[in-house]
Amino acid sequence: MKVDFHSHILPGIDDGAKTLEESVQLAASMASWGFDRITCTPHITRLYRNTPDMIRREFDRLSEALSVNGTDVELRMSAEYRLNPETWPDVLAKDWLMPIEDKYILMEFPISHRSEMGDLDPMEEFRKVMSLGLTPILPHPERYFYLSHDEMMSFVDAGVKIQSNYGSLAGLYGLESRYRAQKLVDEGVVSFLATDMHNLKYVEIIGKWLSAGNSLWEY
Ligand SMILES: [Fe+2]
Repeated sequence: MKVDFHSHILPGIDDGAKTLEESVQLAASMASWGFDRITCTPHITRLYRNTPDMIRREFDRLSEALSVNGTDVELRMSAEYRLNPETWPDVLAKDWLMPIEDKYILMEFPISHRSEMGDLDPMEEFRKVMSLGLTPILPHPERYFYLSHDEMMSFVDAGVKIQSNYGSLAGLYGLESRYRAQKLVDEGVVSFLATDMHNLKYVEIIGKWLSAGNSLWEY
């Protein structure tokens, strides 16, 4: 199966798709690349205070639009949970975890500033999730320049799965992320590649990368 575990294609609830029209366009492009299933994972962060109810509402709206439009792709919903003190403790306290494929939880770090994690210890938070019988996925570590390879490998050794972005390999975030992502793939550290789809720029860059002879991974 060609499954995408990570995307921001639900309309208007984070920094991804802005309108339902754009959402449909993004999903249709992904279907045309061969994806059988897309998991919608809106951010839950200090800036985007999404709840499962809010996500469900937009998920239903997009599902309906795709069936009207005849786009042949299965849609599922989850979230991308950021480790920050403003939302993550709430997620656990309110039981807001929505596992991907019944087992995975996307747990992102702040992109640029580790200090935004506050006092949260990522290893401790990963272990909490694992104690619930779930497997944490760390998305796009190639984009966290403050995260050392050794620390990342300590997470992997503890059972965390690594997900890199197709866009990183395609150069969407610059040379440094591209180099880091390629190295992680070559070293066999990456369990999953995902689109992290946000907008049409992603479609363009990932589309070019696929046209150049690269392929989607299958799970
Ligand atoms: Fe994301």
